[in-house]
Amino acid sequence: MTNRGHSSLLLLLVTIILSFHYSEELQSSKSQNLLRIQRLLNFPAALSSWNKNTDFCSTDSNSSLTVVCYEGNITQLNIIGERRTPLKNFSINSFVTILVRFPSLKVLTLVSLGICGPLPGNIANLSSLEIVNVSSNFIYGSIPQEISSLSNLQTLILDNNMFAGQLLNWFVSFPALTWLSLKNNMFNGFLPNSVGSLVSLRVLSLSNNHFNGAVPDLSSLKNLQVLELDDNAFGPQFPRLGNKLVALVLRNNRFRSGIPAELSSYYQLEKLDISSNTFVGPFQPALLSLPSITYLNISRNKLTGMLFENMSCNSDIDVVDISSNLLTGSLPRCLVSNSGNSERSVLYARNCLEKPNQNQQPQPFCRTGAFAVGILPDRKKHTQVSKVVLSIGIVGGALGGVALVLLILFIIRRKNAKSKMKNHPTRLISENAASGYTSKLLSDARYISQTKKLGEVGLPTYRSFSLEEINAATNNFDIASFMCEDSYGQMYRGQLKNGLLVAIRCVEMKKSYSTQNHMHNIELISKLRHRHLISALGHCFECSLDDSSVTRIFLIFEYIPNGTLKSWISDGHARKLLSWNQRIGVAIGVAKGIQFLHTGIVPGVFSINLKIEDVLLDQNLTAKISSYNLPSLSNMGKVWHGSSSGGSKNSNINKSVKHEDKSDIHDFGVILLELILGRTIKSRNDAGAFKDLLQASILADDEARRRVVDRVIRKACLDQSLKTMMEICVRCLVKEPQDRPSIEDVLWNLQFAAQVQDAWRGDSQSSEGSPSSPLQPPRLTFD
Ligand SMILES: *[C@@H]1O[C@H](CO)[C@@H](O)[C@H](O)[C@H]1NC(C)=O
Ligand SMILES: *[C@@H]1O[C@H](CO)[C@@H](O)[C@H](O)[C@H]1NC(C)=O
Ligand SMILES: *[C@@H]1O[C@H](CO)[C@@H](O)[C@H](O)[C@H]1NC(C)=O
Ligand SMILES: *[C@@H]1O[C@H](CO)[C@@H](O)[C@H](O)[C@H]1NC(C)=O
Ligand SMILES: *[C@@H]1O[C@H](CO)[C@@H](O)[C@H](O)[C@H]1NC(C)=O
Ligand SMILES: *[C@@H]1O[C@H](CO)[C@@H](O)[C@H](O)[C@H]1NC(C)=O
Ligand SMILES: *[C@@H]1O[C@H](CO)[C@@H](O)[C@H](O)[C@H]1NC(C)=O
Repeated sequence: MTNRGHSSLLLLLVTIILSFHYSEELQSSKSQNLLRIQRLLNFPAALSSWNKNTDFCSTDSNSSLTVVCYEGNITQLNIIGERRTPLKNFSINSFVTILVRFPSLKVLTLVSLGICGPLPGNIANLSSLEIVNVSSNFIYGSIPQEISSLSNLQTLILDNNMFAGQLLNWFVSFPALTWLSLKNNMFNGFLPNSVGSLVSLRVLSLSNNHFNGAVPDLSSLKNLQVLELDDNAFGPQFPRLGNKLVALVLRNNRFRSGIPAELSSYYQLEKLDISSNTFVGPFQPALLSLPSITYLNISRNKLTGMLFENMSCNSDIDVVDISSNLLTGSLPRCLVSNSGNSERSVLYARNCLEKPNQNQQPQPFCRTGAFAVGILPDRKKHTQVSKVVLSIGIVGGALGGVALVLLILFIIRRKNAKSKMKNHPTRLISENAASGYTSKLLSDARYISQTKKLGEVGLPTYRSFSLEEINAATNNFDIASFMCEDSYGQMYRGQLKNGLLVAIRCVEMKKSYSTQNHMHNIELISKLRHRHLISALGHCFECSLDDSSVTRIFLIFEYIPNGTLKSWISDGHARKLLSWNQRIGVAIGVAKGIQFLHTGIVPGVFSINLKIEDVLLDQNLTAKISSYNLPSLSNMGKVWHGSSSGGSKNSNINKSVKHEDKSDIHDFGVILLELILGRTIKSRNDAGAFKDLLQASILADDEARRRVVDRVIRKACLDQSLKTMMEICVRCLVKEPQDRPSIEDVLWNLQFAAQVQDAWRGDSQSSEGSPSSPLQPPRLTFD
């Protein structure tokens, strides 16, 4: 029996693997071409495992190699080498000729491979290309004109090569281009005006080239969030830009104008570096208090003006460098007293400030210096900002765009990306279309792990919304969108432009605070994102016309229309009921959600008072915790109102902290009980009684156990799996909090139950009793 069980299990596995191979296997001509690529690249380490027996479509991805196939065609090829020198005897023509034999390629990353030579025009035969990153090679010459036929191109990264020549007007043919990065090349000449027509552009990075002349008018690039023009010879006028910028870097160019006043209305601006130019005229102290600013470098210009001690600045500002200008007066106190920001660095040497610690010039220097430079006539007056509704980027403002996310994915998620692509070949692109990234990512690697978490949520990045978007999503708060109202305000259902369903909570502000005062809370909310949580998507401030204090905050969450877990288990309900496997899966999801609330954010959220009605299931039956209070947001109220009556939840914020996580374990135990029994538990007494029943049946025999469980799963659950679930359930429900298991322990057991059950399901021979296959306990992987 045991042996038969074993061998049939094995057979099944083999069959699965074979059929998998069959459907994914590349034609041998394609495999040949991949081996040619390996040879042409002179056998880089990343491809060291490739040989003529390799099944290219089903090898694991890692940080240096990803091959993704769809129906026998390669759609993604990422090879990341370590080569710092050009390949010898390399023929880029032969290489690209082979490459274009994979016409389904959408994503192509060839980094640090020593690829050398001018880019041949026939690269354009890869007409499906959406994302290209060929940075850190030795490609020279100009960008071939033919590339303009790649109309699906969303991301083009040519950083760290030796490209030269002028950019021609081929830009106009990339309606979808969101990220163009040409850093560290030798491009020269003017930037063509057609750049101004790349309406989808979010990142434009031309750092360290030989561009010169005026920057074309970019004010119509409404999506532009990162503009990096540093280390070129652009100038002399400050560029015309849209006010949604998050990062603006003009460092080390030939700008000689004044700074336009509208810069102080760039509410999302986090990083401003205009250092090492010859900007003249008054410095606008308002830049110090921009709501999102964290990095301000205006050093090495000829900016004038008087600073006062009583000037205000954004408390989040990390770096201020105003050194080597012609500033007088005294350093604002808010910069000196490192209030709440011990890591702030403030540089102000070589000005004419009073009482300085850092080296200053004598007063006359600043006066004569100011006269010594000719001030260019300022451009025509900007239009006043008429809207008072400010959408303020927190985590960095969202930079949407496929491209960005995908590139980040390349770095951190190769493995996931691969399996995903297999299932949804075309969705990988569209799924992330609304996603974003934060500009901090560019400068701060710490955020990558954060993003990894976000990436796993599979949701668009947290961002600020405009009031227009909220109005559009709810059809101007139409009554049909209304969901419910509680003491904190109303809740609306809505649909974003990209089709995403959202729930919008409106929180009325009783006290008048500025947006600044809310940033801390908003930042906490922005972290509430997890696969097993109704996740935060963003927020929007509505400000008063009089004093621009915040009157309402809209918090935008994902909306899950598939009903609560309760409706999927209780007997008598018309809907399809969950199978045993699905129940274990849901339990794992809920446990992971709890684990995230406890340990995934700081401060952790405890005493969630979770009920089965608070767990929602999405269309894939992924469990999502919908109702959780946030202690730190007590002034904003409950974040999300589940489908239950709500409002009654009390967050036991300051109660005995010792076993604060264990009350959630108890609540989880009750849900587990409900999943096993297929009935809802109304009271704590009931929970106790049914716990005793489970306990007794654990000690009894298989048949006795099956009698207590939900009728619909009786036949389909394996005893060992059932027993494991019952045991962990009983342990969660013990009276003494300290005796309850940790959430990690719970997860471990649930995964074990799932694994046992999975293995058994595949084994049709042993439908009775337990297979004695020596299953190893699962290794836990935490998200
Ligand atoms: C990645 O995988 C390939 C083939 O599977 C292997 O040759 C290569 O050494 C791996 N690289 C790393 C960094 O693990
Ligand atoms: C795969 O490629 C072949 C030709 O190269 C093409 O006919 C077929 O449509 C492609 N399949 C998909 C799913 O793109
Ligand atoms: C490079 O090409 C030359 C002649 O074309 C040949 O002699 C040499 O062996 C080649 N080197 C490599 C590494 O293939
Ligand atoms: C590439 O495209 C050109 C013209 O568009 C065509 O003549 C050529 O045959 C194509 N090459 C391949 C390998 O498909
Ligand atoms: C291009 O790919 C390399 C290797 O994955 C990565 O390090 C780099 O950040 C990518 N470029 C951009 C602009 O994302
Ligand atoms: C500001 O910019 C200057 C010149 O570009 C640079 O040398 C300096 O290090 C920057 N300051 C900070 C604090 O990064
Ligand atoms: C700041 O101080 C200056 C003089 O020290 C004074 O003229 C100005 O009114 C003050 N501004 C505010 C906002 O208090």
